[in-house]
Amino acid sequence: MLYVSALSLLVIASGPLLGHAQTIVAVNGTASHPIPKTLWGLMYEDISHSGDGGLYGERLQNRAFQQVAPGTTQALNSWSAIGGALIEVVADTIPLSSALPNSLQVLIPEGAGEVGVENSGYYGIEVNPAWTYNASFFYRFPSILPSGSIAANISLVGAESRTTFAASSVTLNPTADWTQVTTSLTPNSSASDINNTFTVTLDGAAFSGVVNFGLFSLFPPAWMGQENGMREDIAQALFELKPSFFRFPGGNNLEGESIATRWQWNATIGPLVNRPGRVGDWGYVNTDGLGIYEYLIWIELMGMQPIMAVWSGYALGGASVPEADLAPYIEQARQQIEFVVGNTSTPGGALRASLGHSKPFILNYVEIGNEARFTCDFISAAPSTYRSYRWASFVDALQNEYPSIRFIATTRYNNPVLAPKPKSYDLHVYQTPTWFRQNGGYYDSVTRDGTTFFEGEYATTSTNSSNLYGIPEQGRLIYPTVQASVSEAVFMMGFERNSDIVFAASYAPLLGHVTEHQWTPNLLSFDSEQVIKSTSYWVQQMFSANKGDWYLPSTLANTAGTLFWSVVKQDTPLAFILKISNAGTATASLVFELPSAVASSGTLIQLQGSATDSNTPDNPNLIVPVTSTIAAKQNLTFTAPALSLSVITVPLA
Ligand SMILES: *[C@@H]1O[C@H](CO)[C@@H](O)[C@H](O)[C@H]1NC(C)=O
Ligand SMILES: *[C@@H]1O[C@H](CO)[C@@H](O)[C@H](O)[C@H]1NC(C)=O
Ligand SMILES: *[C@@H]1O[C@H](CO)[C@@H](O)[C@H](O)[C@H]1NC(C)=O
Ligand SMILES: *[C@@H]1O[C@H](CO)[C@@H](O)[C@H](O)[C@H]1NC(C)=O
Ligand SMILES: *[C@@H]1O[C@H](CO)[C@@H](O)[C@H](O)[C@H]1NC(C)=O
Ligand SMILES: *[C@@H]1O[C@H](CO)[C@@H](O)[C@H](O)[C@H]1NC(C)=O
Ligand SMILES: *[C@@H]1O[C@H](CO)[C@@H](O)[C@H](O)[C@H]1NC(C)=O
Ligand SMILES: *[C@@H]1O[C@H](CO)[C@@H](O)[C@H](O)[C@H]1NC(C)=O
Ligand SMILES: *[C@@H]1O[C@H](CO)[C@@H](O)[C@H](O)[C@H]1NC(C)=O
Repeated sequence: MLYVSALSLLVIASGPLLGHAQTIVAVNGTASHPIPKTLWGLMYEDISHSGDGGLYGERLQNRAFQQVAPGTTQALNSWSAIGGALIEVVADTIPLSSALPNSLQVLIPEGAGEVGVENSGYYGIEVNPAWTYNASFFYRFPSILPSGSIAANISLVGAESRTTFAASSVTLNPTADWTQVTTSLTPNSSASDINNTFTVTLDGAAFSGVVNFGLFSLFPPAWMGQENGMREDIAQALFELKPSFFRFPGGNNLEGESIATRWQWNATIGPLVNRPGRVGDWGYVNTDGLGIYEYLIWIELMGMQPIMAVWSGYALGGASVPEADLAPYIEQARQQIEFVVGNTSTPGGALRASLGHSKPFILNYVEIGNEARFTCDFISAAPSTYRSYRWASFVDALQNEYPSIRFIATTRYNNPVLAPKPKSYDLHVYQTPTWFRQNGGYYDSVTRDGTTFFEGEYATTSTNSSNLYGIPEQGRLIYPTVQASVSEAVFMMGFERNSDIVFAASYAPLLGHVTEHQWTPNLLSFDSEQVIKSTSYWVQQMFSANKGDWYLPSTLANTAGTLFWSVVKQDTPLAFILKISNAGTATASLVFELPSAVASSGTLIQLQGSATDSNTPDNPNLIVPVTSTIAAKQNLTFTAPALSLSVITVPLA
């Protein structure tokens, strides 16, 4: 059965033909459906240093020499020597732990002065005098022991000026066994830029010889005080989106280039010394300091719920686990779910309780794999194993064990049909502004048969349809533009209209470091001290903060045009919320014929700019929404500026 809404009773507006023409929008006061609480949320994976170097609060890069080849220059990434020390990453004869086999070996030559190592962070380190940083490292003297304790300084220093902003003096004991130093650093002023380093220096006059270091850490206060938690400004910017869900841990980064390097939940828990890290899918090592437990605690603090993915037997390099060998991987997925929701009588629940959360976490949605592309919809050929056995093997086993969880299949919904028939699908699309405007009706004709949809990734990547994954010079965007963002808004209006079957939607990617262009554009960009909220961030925020509770059908827009709208009703306080996207280059006038009397004034939130305007590191607040009060009445006339998204909230009379 095809979806026939009340909308079909209403005429399609033709849009203004003349400069003075007004588009009439008749609004039906009988809601067609409630808007799900889960509609707007976040898609996350560690890409472009969105996790390590981004959301995760740790400031040191390559802090524990995880997954690097000892002896190579690459292994020293982000580290350099101070005062004539010779440094090398070694496979330690006595490793700090089985998970962390490598150490930073520092050879202090005869007659040295202040000598040591420094780390330049994730392309800089913010020095903030309002913070007290936790700083720590492990050390041991592997060969000759010093004759007594050695003085050491732990500092935050300007990389060029060598100004010391914070310092802590500690002593190192003459020991061949791994020993941890923990201290705190409070800068006495801010630095003029982010080109600062974390240094550990020793008194070279008191000792010459070898000292090994492992697992360093520099951690400012985390968002809401979470231990080993999230960077405050990034988490706060995400919190202000009022997101309802968090899809994690990927994305491609779930999958691994090989089966061995897939994301494994159990490698991401417990003390940091027990976490080996892994070679991520986006060109850098993942520390796994941001592990499943940290994600879940933060999701709870944020008031979100997880859409958690489990690995489904396929690695990005192309390997599928044969059907006969799947059982241990299904068991690992089962244990991952049990860790999240098992009661404390189960091994997984008991493990979770031992980390500090005895109550099960909320888990309503689990996605089986990522972009299995079983119909080959874009980029690469489909691994048909998802269709032929992987989907069925995973979902049959897990659904039986966890009947109340809704399992989501990846990427495509109708051709060919998966068995058993998925209850939900995750669809992804990266496209042009024109495509998003023309496809706001994508879900209008989808069969209503109980199947629900998660639009898990979407973004305008280019203005050039033949360059969606290509280079900036040919239209690939680095930062979202106003034209891109107001066009995404049209696609999002389609989700509101179809939110009887679209239960969740998330822009992607969420976060990217400004030095990393593994994928652009991103909703939020950041460096080590600044967060840049893109125009698409503001569009997401305007939808999410004005979600409403009921969808009210209204006259359908002309999908070939540039003027679009969506009307919802909010229960508390009782109001109509009108969203208007004008993607055209001229102002457009509309009359909304509201279904009941309204107050004499309302609130207008408006984002407006030139087509190619972007918020960038140099101009992060070029385009921000502006709030004002507007006159209102039941037949509400509104003039939408060129290239704008407007959200009007009008209380009912
Ligand atoms: C308004 O919507 C209701 C319920 O969907 C429908 O029965 C009614 O016909 C619609 N009214 C108009 C004028 O389209
Ligand atoms: C930071 O300072 C170092 C040391 O002087 C210098 O080599 C580097 O180019 C500086 N980086 C930036 C981004 O200014
Ligand atoms: C700031 O602290 C550092 C390290 O303790 C010290 O060397 C420096 O003189 C201090 N600067 C000021 C202005 O107090
Ligand atoms: C530690 O810093 C203090 C103050 O700058 C300095 O006097 C001392 O020599 C430093 N010690 C070492 C071991 O670097
Ligand atoms: C910093 O250390 C304190 C004391 O151990 C701890 O309570 C706090 O959670 C730590 N901060 C982070 C971000 O882990
Ligand atoms: C995680 O569990 C798998 C089995 O499911 C096991 O092979 C692997 O060694 C474990 N990893 C760690 C780091 O404990
Ligand atoms: C805990 O979970 C297990 C496995 O689902 C179940 O068999 C058991 O009855 C549960 N125990 C309690 C106390 O709920
Ligand atoms: C669009 O992209 C294609 C492929 O990258 C390129 O050949 C073409 O020149 C681009 N067109 C424009 C108008 O930039
Ligand atoms: C709104 O405009 C329509 C069309 O002109 C008209 O029929 C209706 O009476 C008006 N409603 C109010 C409340 O003014």
